[in-house]
This record gives sequence, C-alpha cells and structure tokens, in this order.
Amino acid sequence: MKPYIHLNSAMTADGKIATSNSSLQISSKDDLIRVHKLRCKYDGIMVGINTVLIDDPKLTIHKIDAKKEDNPTRIIIDSKARTPLNARVLNDDADSVIVVSKKAPEDRVDKLKNMCNVIVAGEDQIDLPLAMSKLYDMGILSILLEGGSTLNFSMLKDKLVDKLSVCVGSKILGGFDSKTLVDGEGFNPSECINLKIENIEKIDDDILVEYRIIYEN
Ligand SMILES: NC(=O)c1ccc[n+]([C@@H]2O[C@H](COP(=O)([O-])OP(=O)(O)OC[C@H]3O[C@@H](n4cnc5c(N)ncnc54)[C@H](OP(=O)(O)O)[C@@H]3O)[C@@H](O)[C@H]2O)c1
Repeated sequence: MKPYIHLNSAMTADGKIATSNSSLQISSKDDLIRVHKLRCKYDGIMVGINTVLIDDPKLTIHKIDAKKEDNPTRIIIDSKARTPLNARVLNDDADSVIVVSKKAPEDRVDKLKNMCNVIVAGEDQIDLPLAMSKLYDMGILSILLEGGSTLNFSMLKDKLVDKLSVCVGSKILGGFDSKTLVDGEGFNPSECINLKIENIEKIDDDILVEYRIIYEN
C-alpha cells in the first residue's frame, strides 16, 4: 500500500520553479496561504535533498494560525544522508523522517538518528515505491509532495503521484539552467503523462490549475 500523493508546485509562466541554484518567490501571498492550508490536510510533506540544501525550508504550517500538532511529518528523500544537522527541517516544530539508501555513510546516519526518524529504502538512490510503502506502514497515509524537479520526475515515473496542482505565477524567468516543474531524464513522447483538468481558479495574478493524473496512454 502507498500513501495518497498530491504534488503541489508554483511555476512561472515559462514553467520554471527556481533558478539553477536559488529559490524564487513565484506565487502570490494568497497562494502561499492556500499552500499552508493544504499542508494541514496531509500526514506528510515531502521534498528532495537538493531543496533542503538550497532553500533550507521549514516545511511547517506557519503562514496561517496552526497548532504544532497540525504540522505534517516532514519527509526528506536523501540517499547519502546529506541533510545538514542544523537544517530547519530538523527543528523541533514538527516530526521529521529522513529516507536514506544503503549507501549512506553510517556516521552521518547515526548523527541524523539522534535528531529524527531515519528509514532505509534502496541500494543507491532511494527506491521510491519501497519508501512510500514503508511510510504508509508508519501511518503516513497522505503526502503533499513539494518538489523539486528531480524528485517530481522520479515520483511521476514510478506512477506514485495521484494529483497535481500547479500555481502559475505571473512571472517569466527564462534561462537554460533554470529548474522546471519536472526535470530528470524526461519521458519518451509515447510515454508522457496525460492530465485531466479538475479545477481552475484565479488567485490574485496567479492561476491555480488542479489535475488528475492519467498514467495509461
Ligand atoms: N517553486 C516551487 O514550488 C519549488 C518547490 C520545491 C523546490 N523548488 C526548487 O527546486 C530546486 C531543487 O530541485 P532539484 O531538482 O535540484 O532537487 P530535488 O528534487 O529537491 O532533490 C533531488 C535529489 O534527491 C535525491 N534523490 C534520492 N533518490 C532519488 C530518486 N529516486 N529520485 C529523485 N531524487 C532522488 C538525489 O540526491 P542524492 O543522490 O544526494 O540523494 C537528488 O539529486 C530548488 O532550487 C528549489 O528552490 C521549487
């Protein structure tokens, strides 16, 4: 069994979610409030290690009134246990789970284990279906996936994402090296993922589009 997984992201009108090495405020204040309300509805909130290293996000509900226990469990996909010990995702505001692979250095894993829950899934990179199954068994039945581009690709490739919502901000970033909503190796045209629009909403100068994901071509 796997958790229900909702990928939520903000991208520019040209499909970028960040520059190559820094984050960027793409959507409006009202969209950020929407995201924080969304976080309240999920058992877990998940990102890839690069997002932690670049953005140092808190991954808590802090833009609306919320109790500490409303915070979802923070999940970091981090095969080599590179999460810095002073990263904000390891603060006391919420529980955290770091998912590492068998390749992770033992000393790093031991240090992380003093600060949060660490689970192992995969030999080299994280085996995402196995990780999702382990998280489900831990009681994490729903996850809000918040990127970045590389993890988004792998999660879609493994057909683990159930719903996608994209807030298209009124900005253009351009750039060869900028991150897009989904990077990774990409899909063959015959294997690309089809989407079905479920809802469209204007939020300030942004457009929120919610899709159901259709994996069968
Ligand atoms: N606009 C938005 O909504 C938004 C949201 C989130 C992030 N971002 C941006 O996205 C950027 C980071 O994206 P990113 O693509 O560089 O990195 P990422 O997706 O955050 O993290 C990717 C890393 O996760 C680890 N990983 C382990 N197993 C994996 C697997 N099976 N599949 C995929 N990844 C796996 C790998 O590092 P190891 O090999 O070391 O484990 C991989 O390099 C940041 O600049 C951030 O600002 C934007």
